[in-house]
Amino acid sequence: MKFFLDTANLRDIEEAASWGVLAGVTTNPTLYAREGGRLAEFHGHIQRICDICDGPVSAETVSLDRDGIILEAEELHALAPNVVVKVPVMPEGLAATKVLADRGIDVNMTLCFTVPQALMAARAGARYVSPFIGRFDDISEDGLEHLGNMIVALNNYDFGHPIEVIAASVRHNQHVVAAALMGADIATVPFGVLEKLVKHPLTDRGLESFLADWEKVKNA
Ligand code: E4P
Repeated sequence: MKFFLDTANLRDIEEAASWGVLAGVTTNPTLYAREGGRLAEFHGHIQRICDICDGPVSAETVSLDRDGIILEAEELHALAPNVVVKVPVMPEGLAATKVLADRGIDVNMTLCFTVPQALMAARAGARYVSPFIGRFDDISEDGLEHLGNMIVALNNYDFGHPIEVIAASVRHNQHVVAAALMGADIATVPFGVLEKLVKHPLTDRGLESFLADWEKVKNA
């Protein structure tokens, strides 16, 4: 499984890239707003993310009609070769995805909550399908069970083009572990989760004892 960062924060993206584990970035309007983003600077911000991260960088469209989504998508796609256009699963989004896929533009279909939505996203030509986990948990449903169902359903068919499942709306380590065991291709995680994923108390304790013993070696 590959690790994407789910953020628009440039410092966090730089930090994760320096660890050598950053395979891509996903952004959305909420994440950009959280960074104090302004409309006029949106394209420049996506370009800066693409300068840091070589992998796919998802930038989301906000139009609600097919032609508006296509127009936004083409502008975003022109920013950098690794921009992936993120489009919500809805009839207009599917129609736009079909046109964009035919034009060779990679689409990440987002806000995916059901097996039929995932299958339709794949049929329309999406290169990435993003099931959301945490938002199911927010309404006391098992987001991981839904993710597992979507992975199984997608694996049942050949869509004639490569598709990767991005486990999205990840809130904690267990989401990532379960997504990996289910065979999700990618987990997109907030930086706080990525930091926790690299840690274990036994790693810290092991390091402490190694350092203490090394002091003994130095003083012997
Ligand atoms: C990523 O592609 C999604 O937009 C993101 O993971 C949503 O996460 P949230 O449910 O925590 O807002």
